[in-house]
Amino acid sequence: MKKNLFPFLKWAGGKTQLLNQLEAKMPIGYKRYFEPFIGGGALLLDIQPKKAVINDINEQLLNVYIQLKQDTEAVLREVNRLDSHLCDEKRYLELRAKYNEKIQRREIDPECAALMIWVNKHCFNGLYRVNSKGLFNVPYNRNVNGRSMNEENLRNIGYYLRENDIEIRHGDFEKACRDASSGDFVYFDSPYIPVSETAKFTNYTKEGFTIEDHKRLAKLYRQLALRGVWVMMSNHNVPLVYELYNGFRIIEVDVKRAINRDATKRFGKEVIITNY
Ligand SMILES: C[S@@+](CC[C@H](N)C(=O)[O-])C[C@H]1O[C@@H](n2cnc3c(N)ncnc32)[C@H](O)[C@@H]1O
Repeated sequence: MKKNLFPFLKWAGGKTQLLNQLEAKMPIGYKRYFEPFIGGGALLLDIQPKKAVINDINEQLLNVYIQLKQDTEAVLREVNRLDSHLCDEKRYLELRAKYNEKIQRREIDPECAALMIWVNKHCFNGLYRVNSKGLFNVPYNRNVNGRSMNEENLRNIGYYLRENDIEIRHGDFEKACRDASSGDFVYFDSPYIPVSETAKFTNYTKEGFTIEDHKRLAKLYRQLALRGVWVMMSNHNVPLVYELYNGFRIIEVDVKRAINRDATKRFGKEVIITNY
C-alpha cells in the first residue's frame, strides 16, 4: 500500500506547495522517472514511481538517501543520539564542526547522514550553504528543542527506496540524463534563474549555478524533447525563461516563497514548462 511520504529536510526551492499543480501537468504514463535535481524530493516522495533515477550534485544530501536505502535503522539511531541532548549555540557549533570534519575526512556514512539531518533542523532557515572549501557554514537558528526527524516517515522512505527500482546518482544534471530515452519522464527543478539582476545565483555547492548552466540545461531540455522524452521544468517567471524555452508550453503559477529574508518578496510567479 502507498504510504504518505514527505521531505525529511527543509530545502530551498522545496516543491511541497506546488505539488498539485505539478502533478496535474505530468504525463499520464511514463517508463522511468528522472529527477536530476532531487533536493528534498517533494515530488518523488509524493508520486512514488516504481522506477526512478534521482540525482543531485550535493554529495551530502545524496548520502542521506543512500544511507536510508542501505540501513534506515542505523541513520535513525544516530539521529536519536544527536537529539538526546538539548541544543544551544555551543552544541550547534560543535556538531556543525563535527559534520565538517567528517566531510573533510570523507567519512560519508550513517553518522554523516544523521548530522546532515540534525544540522538542517537546527541551522538558520534550513539553508544549505557552503564556503569555497565545500564546508557547511550556516549559523544556528536558536531553536533549543525539537526532534530532528519524523521516524515513521524516514522508515517509510527507506522502505520505498529499497522496495522499488530507485537508482541514486551523484553528479551534474547532464550526466544524470544520459540514458533517458523515449517514453521516460524527466522533471527538472534546477536552482532558479534569479528574479532580478541584483539577486544572486544560488550556492548549494561551492560551484554555484551560473547563467551558463542555465543555457546548458535549456540545450539538454531540447535534446531530450527530440529524443521523445517527456520533460517538465519549474522556474521563475522571468524573461530569460521565455527566451531559453521558446516554443515549449510555459504555464504561469502563483507561489508563496518561504526562504527570503525580505517579507515583501515572499510571493511571486513561477512557471511550469512542458514539451507536451
Ligand atoms: C531547487 S533545488 C531542488 C528542490 C527539490 N525539487 C525539492 O522539492 O526540494 C535544486 C537542487 O539542485 C542541486 N544542484 C545544483 N547544481 C546542480 C548540478 N549542476 N547538477 C545537479 N544538481 C545540482 C542542488 O544541490 C539542489 O539540491
